[in-house]
Formats: sequence, structure tokens, C-alpha cells
Amino acid sequence: MSAATLTSIADAEKSARDKLPDFAWSYYSRTTADGQTYQDNIKAFRRYRLIPRNLRDVSVRDTSVTVLGTRLDVPVAIGPTGWQRFAHPGADLATAMGAAAMNTGMVLSSWANHSMEEVAEVAPSGIHWFYMLFYKDRRRMKRLLDRAERAGYTAIFLTVDQPFFPFSIDKKPAPGSYPAPLRFPNIFDVEPPHAIGSAEYRELLRATSKEAATWADVEWVRDNTRLPVVLKGVLSAEDARMAVERGVNGILVSNHGGREQDGVPATIDVLPDIVRAVGGKAEVYLDGGVRTGTDVLKALALGARCVFIGRPALWGLAHNGAEGVQQVLQILTDELSLAMARTGTCLVCLSSNQVGRASTCTYI
Ligand code: FNR
Repeated sequence: MSAATLTSIADAEKSARDKLPDFAWSYYSRTTADGQTYQDNIKAFRRYRLIPRNLRDVSVRDTSVTVLGTRLDVPVAIGPTGWQRFAHPGADLATAMGAAAMNTGMVLSSWANHSMEEVAEVAPSGIHWFYMLFYKDRRRMKRLLDRAERAGYTAIFLTVDQPFFPFSIDKKPAPGSYPAPLRFPNIFDVEPPHAIGSAEYRELLRATSKEAATWADVEWVRDNTRLPVVLKGVLSAEDARMAVERGVNGILVSNHGGREQDGVPATIDVLPDIVRAVGGKAEVYLDGGVRTGTDVLKALALGARCVFIGRPALWGLAHNGAEGVQQVLQILTDELSLAMARTGTCLVCLSSNQVGRASTCTYI
């Protein structure tokens, strides 16, 4: 299907708003409380300024980075978002293809509507990471970890900012309005007989998920997979230090895009403290409110190795499936490359401190 070429992430958002049914739009744009943190994520980027360095040869620029030992062509990867079938029939398959076309990574959500094996198969050259929920039954966690390894996933993301089972499922639309068939093949090995969204389905999820996971659960995952482990949802330097002490490989500074606790800091504001606390002993990434290539450069200049996007990828998916996702990533890449040229930066694949020296970011 042909669709208009997007020229900015704002364009993608507008296109998604026009194309998506109301229930899908409201699910994707949902924030908690009055959305202070969601807004703050975006506004905070505007409070930082880049100090350009001029008269440098910036004719050749390299946007590639290495994340957990894998080279990405661009320091923008796709974070986990569930229920992608709301956006496009291709759902997670299309997103994975869009990411693979740009040679960047994608975190498959446990709430994906396609299995991790299907996603790996449709995008064999892709860089696949898996976000796993915490379950009461550790045998189930072990089965999922083994499945991810077998399917070629190269990292496990643990989301730590949801101490309770995502009860937001209660707020999702009535089953009748779901596009059928909707399934969650990375949660249940065998789909339960209950309709998604029904009281029985929710009860089953509640009964099987582990509420209030602790550091002991992180340690268990670390000890039960050969894959690197990334903690998603860290906002405090102290938690970052505790993660490093436990041998975690990566820390994704995130407030869940303003969908969990409202009134917590914007991610870009806490990034420098966390980078300092980690002291190079793990990789540090950021998500939340990244909407331009300049935002990406600011995050890199403040010490992130790469950034992740949530809603912008969904907007691209709604716009035009895999191609829309690719366009969103391409826009951010082109804008980043331009911002690098204008600030005298040729490389982002150096250590984050070196990027910081190349293109200074100040806060006003
Ligand atoms: C999310 N996010 C999320 N995070 C996570 O760890 N597991 C998940 O299943 C989901 N699902 C999800 C669904 C939808 C619709 C959205 C919008 C977000 C959070 C996501 O990974 C990321 O942290 C934020 O979306 C980043 O903020 P931006 O880029 O949306 O501003």
C-alpha cells in the first residue's frame, strides 16, 4: 500500500491519529494521571542546548554504534510496545522488518501479538531482543529464556518500573472491539480458552505474573540465561549502581513513556547522574520523548550509548507498516546526521564520553 512520505516524527504522529481507530489511538497515547511525566520527557529535551564545534571536517559521518557487542547502523532502536496489532495487521512482524531494514535493534514485547520465533523468522537479519515479564513460576521463565536463546535473541530486557502486573489491561477496550485474531504467544505457551480482556483472562494473568519483583529475581534471570540482561525503567543512580553490582549488562533509563508513575523525572534529566554512577561498567541507554535527531544527539552527548523509541515506531507502523517504521527510523537518522555535521561531530560509536567532548551539551 502506498502512503505519503513522512517528513518528521510529528508528521508520523498526525498520520497515525488520522488512521487509527479511537480505541487504538487512545491506548497508544495513554499516559498515567494527567500526563506530566509524558509531557516533561518531551519538554526536557528542549531545555538542553548543543554547543557546536566549527571548522571540522564533517563530510563523512558515521552514526553506527555497538550495543551489547552488536553493531547498529543508527543509535536509535525500537523499545518494547505491546498490542501492535491495533496499529497494523503486520504488527510486530512489520516493526521487526522496519528495524531490520535500518540495521537496528528491536525489543519484542511479551505483549507482542506474534511469537518470538515468527518475528525472528520474518526478519532473519534483524537484531532481536526480548522483554520478559516476571512470573511466579520460574519454570515458565526458564522456558521463555531458552526459547529466546534458541530463536536467536541476543539480550533479555527486564522492565523494572512495573511493580504490579500491568493492570492497565483493565482499561483496554471491550473484547468486541479487538481486531481478531489477537493473541499473546510469548506469555502463554498454549493460549488459554478465555477471551482476551475477559475477567477470566485477566485473572489468569494476575495469578501467573509475579508482582513486585525484587533484585533476587534479576539475579535469578542473570544466572539462568547466557544472554546479556538489561534493566529497563531505572531512574535513580543508586538503583543503577545496584544493577551494576549484580552484573547487569545494560541500563535503560526510562519512565515507561509516562505510562507508569506520573511525576517522576524526565529521563534526559537523570541520565548524566546515572551515567556517572555506572562509571562505564554497563551500557546506558535512554527512552522517553525522543522525537528528533537533535534529541538523539543530546542523549548521546549526555552519555547514552543509544536511545529507544516507543510511540514514534507505533505511529510509523500505523502509517504504513514496515515501511512506515523504516521511514520513522530514517527521519531520525537523517536528522541526527545533520545535527552531527552542524555541531562538528563525525562519530557516535566512540565511548559516550568522547561523544560528549565532540559535541557539548549544556543545560539551561
Ligand atoms: C509501552 N511501553 C512498554 N514498555 C515495556 O517495558 N513493555 C511493554 O510491553 C510496553 N508496552 C508499551 C505499549 C505502548 C502502547 C506504549 C506507548 C509504550 C513503554 C515503551 O517501551 C517505552 O518505554 C516508551 O514508549 C518510551 O517513550 P516514547 O518513545 O513513547 O515517548
